Amino acid sequence: MIICGASAYSRDWDYVRLRKIADEVGAFLLADISHPAGLIAKGLLNDPLPHCHVISTTTHKTLRGPRGGLIMMGKDFENPWGQKTPKGELKMMSAVLDGAVFPGTQGGPLEHVIASKAIAFEEALSDDYFKYILQVIRNAKTMAKEFVDRGYKIISGGTDNHLMLIDLRSKILQASRLKTHW
Ligand SMILES: Cc1ncc(COP(=O)(O)O)c(C=O)c1O
Repeated sequence: MIICGASAYSRDWDYVRLRKIADEVGAFLLADISHPAGLIAKGLLNDPLPHCHVISTTTHKTLRGPRGGLIMMGKDFENPWGQKTPKGELKMMSAVLDGAVFPGTQGGPLEHVIASKAIAFEEALSDDYFKYILQVIRNAKTMAKEFVDRGYKIISGGTDNHLMLIDLRSKILQASRLKTHW
């Protein structure tokens, strides 16, 4: 399985290219869009849905919702491991995923969290949310630029999303030095 999605990756993902690689090597492609989900939902970053077999996300990062998650598929397909139903039919991938969630790893549904997710999605559909998420990107770009202007090294030189990774090695941030500043 090839996973695209990370905690500190500040650039957009080329899902078309990754799918091409996955198909070449017979790999399953999973996009974990936990961090940029809100930016993707508003069309500000590439959409993994047409290209990845499965997409997972949390609902409490840029989506601004309750703590929770989502597993999504753009298109259903027969599971590649030959898992069958009791009737001997090949299970669809969605059924394998559903089975892994419940009764695989989860029990009773958290109705209040499901309701909160619905509210977060409704908010994400609004123009207000679009303004908000645009501002998130603007803030991150300004912050990255300010760091660069002050001599900090930002990995890849900037950001396409709301994340940035700062290389502090040139700043010799040692505990002993910090103490003298404080
Ligand atoms: C890429 C990625 N996926 C998933 C998660 C899971 O988030 P949580 O532990 O908040 O559910 C994180 C956490 O930051 C993450 O960075």
